[in-house]
Amino acid sequence: MDQGNYSRVAEFVLLGLSSSWELQYFFFVLFNFLYMAIVLGNLLIVITVISEPALHTPMYIMLSNLSVLDVFLATYATPKMIHDFLHEPKIISFEGCMAQIFLLHVFAGGEMVLLVAMAYDRYVAICKPLHYATIMNLCRCTGLVVGSWVIGVMHSLSQLAFTINLPFCGPNIVDSYYCDLTLVIKLACTDTYVPEVLMLLDSGLMGVTSFFLLLISYMVILVTVRGHSSVGMAKARSTLTAHITVVILFFGPCIFIYSSPFSNFPVDKVLSVFSTVFTPILNPIIYTLRNKEVKSAMHKLKTRYISSRLLFQLSLTRLNLLN
Ligand SMILES: *[C@@H]1O[C@H](CO)[C@@H](O)[C@H](O)[C@H]1NC(C)=O
Repeated sequence: MDQGNYSRVAEFVLLGLSSSWELQYFFFVLFNFLYMAIVLGNLLIVITVISEPALHTPMYIMLSNLSVLDVFLATYATPKMIHDFLHEPKIISFEGCMAQIFLLHVFAGGEMVLLVAMAYDRYVAICKPLHYATIMNLCRCTGLVVGSWVIGVMHSLSQLAFTINLPFCGPNIVDSYYCDLTLVIKLACTDTYVPEVLMLLDSGLMGVTSFFLLLISYMVILVTVRGHSSVGMAKARSTLTAHITVVILFFGPCIFIYSSPFSNFPVDKVLSVFSTVFTPILNPIIYTLRNKEVKSAMHKLKTRYISSRLLFQLSLTRLNLLN
């Protein structure tokens, strides 16, 4: 590929989620609301976990890391999408587009690995309870968290390495609300068969491996739980069902989008919304608000907040009296 033979496109045009103005106004309001809910819900989890020493266990530390990833995952494209609902044409610079591709793969890859780590943590806790403390110490937990970031970044770099050097010489219409690699790669002025296969292998390996690891660990846990019939096990079962819902909602769209790179279905962009908006919003609900420990920690936090505010007002009143 001779870089001198063509002038690279400076920007891409995004077609967005819909072309109808009414729908776009509706989406503008809806996604504004969803985005705020994602940020607030996940921040609440992070604050709760950090401020409550009882929650400084591998499971909750990974959970709050997942919340951070969720906020990132919801932020690499959604605010721009929300902005774009009211703007026409929807333009993104070449660099912005590559940045979106890079960030999406870092965050999505990281989230996949972290979900696997969390499933592994539950597997050890439920299937090997006596060895839990030695297997899942804080050091191993840090290793898993750092590992998921490292794997996400490596996966993304490998993906970008062959994308950024493709000759983008003219076609620049992306039929989505963000720069989706599966669509962008098709715009290169070259035979994109090999890059598409590479991309499929790269993302496919990542997605399918984590998906099956998750399925296997959840199945082993479910089988273990089935043998018992105590109340605790019933609770574990309902938690697991919720986890599996998240996994399917997150991975289903990814696998569908990446398994069909050679034929672009119009549902792809709707499915992407599931991975980048609905999973980040569901995680706090599913992992936390149904969880007694987290709920009581949040309650404590609220009480502490209210009492500190009372104290503050009390001292203000005293100050006023003194003056
Ligand atoms: C994420 O994980 C690391 C390593 O275990 C931990 O030190 C950190 O506090 C976690 N971050 C959050 C926001 O919980």
